[in-house]
Amino acid sequence: MDNVLDFFREKKPWSKYKDLILDYYLKPYLAKVNKLKKPILVVDCFAGPGRFQDGEPGSPLIISDRLLEIQKRGAKVKGLYIEKNPILYKQLETNSHNLPILAITRLGDFREHLDEIADLAKTHTVFVYLDPIKPNELLFDDMESIYAQLKGGVSVETLINLMSTNFLRAVRGIKNHVVLDGLIQTDHELVSKWNRIAGGPYWQQIAFDSHLSEDNCADQFAKGYANQLRRWFKGVITYPIREKYEHKSPKYHMIFGSRYPGAIELMNRAMVNARRQFIKKCFIEGHLFPNQPEKEIIKPEEIEKIILQASRKVGKTTWANLRLSATIANPPTYTDSEFNRAIKELIKERLLHSDCPGTKIEENALIWPSP
Ligand SMILES: C[S@@+](CC[C@H](N)C(=O)[O-])C[C@H]1O[C@@H](n2cnc3c(N)ncnc32)[C@H](O)[C@@H]1O
Repeated sequence: MDNVLDFFREKKPWSKYKDLILDYYLKPYLAKVNKLKKPILVVDCFAGPGRFQDGEPGSPLIISDRLLEIQKRGAKVKGLYIEKNPILYKQLETNSHNLPILAITRLGDFREHLDEIADLAKTHTVFVYLDPIKPNELLFDDMESIYAQLKGGVSVETLINLMSTNFLRAVRGIKNHVVLDGLIQTDHELVSKWNRIAGGPYWQQIAFDSHLSEDNCADQFAKGYANQLRRWFKGVITYPIREKYEHKSPKYHMIFGSRYPGAIELMNRAMVNARRQFIKKCFIEGHLFPNQPEKEIIKPEEIEKIILQASRKVGKTTWANLRLSATIANPPTYTDSEFNRAIKELIKERLLHSDCPGTKIEENALIWPSP
């Protein structure tokens, strides 16, 4: 995007799925962290103006609405919205100065405000939203000082818009400079630059491997990025956002990191919801007969198959952990309730063993596969 102002003329249809995930997740997340009785901070490091010119709300307003709901239920909340473009910042100020929550706006590069965020993280639960326009606007280690606090027991979660396809496009554009006689020059300054954005050299093989199909490349890259994030977060899940179902390359991937199993399941549910809404729009609404691809049809036997696979992989474990393992291995395909139903069924059918009867959900019951 040459001119960042153009981006905000109108909200693109696929951006709505990105917003849907953010919005859908925040509601149960905020209700959950409110129980910790700590003040809540939501940071939007790439805030934009708050509202698009077509009237659609931008992320700061989506976040503020959710914060207001939980504030009404007694929570102490803060939104911290950072924007570096002075024109957009002015609009952000105008759009947020009358909000009925504490909305703090900051002009400048979000990196200049990391100390403030790190300081607030000592006393607040923190959710960080990172939504750049270009892949080079976010270096992998930019948030290190915030994530590093996870070791000290602070609560931080992150939702990142990973510009996977644009990343691959950009690095392929430098191929002639960095690949000599079929070998990548690992010490080339451009290679180091893109290593810093990706968080490691894993992208090199993906970007220049002619055997991978285009959609596979973006997914592999997102997987690689998610693996790097596991340095900090126990649970990381990704979701590709597409303009059209049949498009090989997604527009980008949404990546979520948290160390709380409950948060992973909530985000998985938000991503499943976005995925199903997208399928509904593409194949069900306005069609006389639903014509979605076979793999998008929800089949209880498929869910049971996934649970059995997960159980064989993790061995004897708790109900909650079995469901989480199935979720992480297949995000975002089925919800936690669908997995619960499958677990119950499998225990009743004696295809899974358990120290509970499987008539109701028992998170701590032990479950193991039949030999
Ligand atoms: C994709 S837009 C954000 C859209 C916004 N999240 C929304 O949904 O309404 C990215 C924004 O981040 C801003 N930006 C880019 N680099 C930044 C940085 N280092 N610090 C703060 N803002 C930045 C851009 O000016 C642009 O407004």
